[in-house]
Amino acid sequence: MARRILVTGTDAGVGKTTFGCALAFALKARGIHVGVMKPAETGCEAGADGVLEPADVRALAYAAACSMPLDLMAPFRYRSPLAPAVAAEVDSLPAPDFERIDKCLRQIESESDVVIVEGVGGIATPITWSRDYADLASLLELELIVVIANRPGCLNIAALTLKYAASRGVRIAGYLMNEVEPATSAVAESNQSSMARLTHARSLGRLRFREPLSKTIVEKLLTSGS
Ligand SMILES: Nc1ncnc2c1ncn2[C@@H]1O[C@H](COP(=O)(O)OP(=O)(O)OP(=O)(O)O)[C@@H](O)[C@H]1O
Ligand SMILES: [Mg+2]
Repeated sequence: MARRILVTGTDAGVGKTTFGCALAFALKARGIHVGVMKPAETGCEAGADGVLEPADVRALAYAAACSMPLDLMAPFRYRSPLAPAVAAEVDSLPAPDFERIDKCLRQIESESDVVIVEGVGGIATPITWSRDYADLASLLELELIVVIANRPGCLNIAALTLKYAASRGVRIAGYLMNEVEPATSAVAESNQSSMARLTHARSLGRLRFREPLSKTIVEKLLTSGS
């Protein structure tokens, strides 16, 4: 079985795709075959042919040099920029089906050493009205990387996310403090040290505003591989 990683975050727009692409590229550069997937992608725009374009999966696939069919990498795509369960209703499309997601993942995995899966929003975002990303992670045996937007007030949602994941028995590879905005560094530093006191989950480090992913983060992840 390939290593299966779910990149989740404390919210939408916290840097899941940015980090996922940087990680995919770094792994690829080390000769590791990387598969990518976003099982449900919402907020897709329709191309001229009417096909919904999954921008995040496209970016991940490009970074990973993964040329698998779009329907495997992004099997459930919706136009509405909402949680998948809601987008499916608003767009009058079927909600994501876990069996199909599992099949797609296995197929991607058959040609990969690592599969990077991106979630929508955060860990408790509903994929259907009875299942969220913690369910997806436990059913598909995905280990979690939690991307935390390192900004004032992030400790609450970061702690809740990690506690919820732990309470659901999901394996947590670590969390990453990401600077989505130019950081007021005192706050960013203090958030990082507060996180270390708030959780036993492993800190992967910090992704700074507009800076490349550090080698240390990639190596930490590789040494913790299953
Ligand atoms: N470390 C960073 N430095 C500079 N800009 C960043 C960084 N991380 C994220 N961004 C920017 O923040 C925005 C949101 O990032 P991104 O799309 O990766 O978030 P996301 O969590 O994948 O969002 P979504 O919930 O829509 O999937 C993007 O414009 C991205 O370029
Ligand atoms: Mg994204």
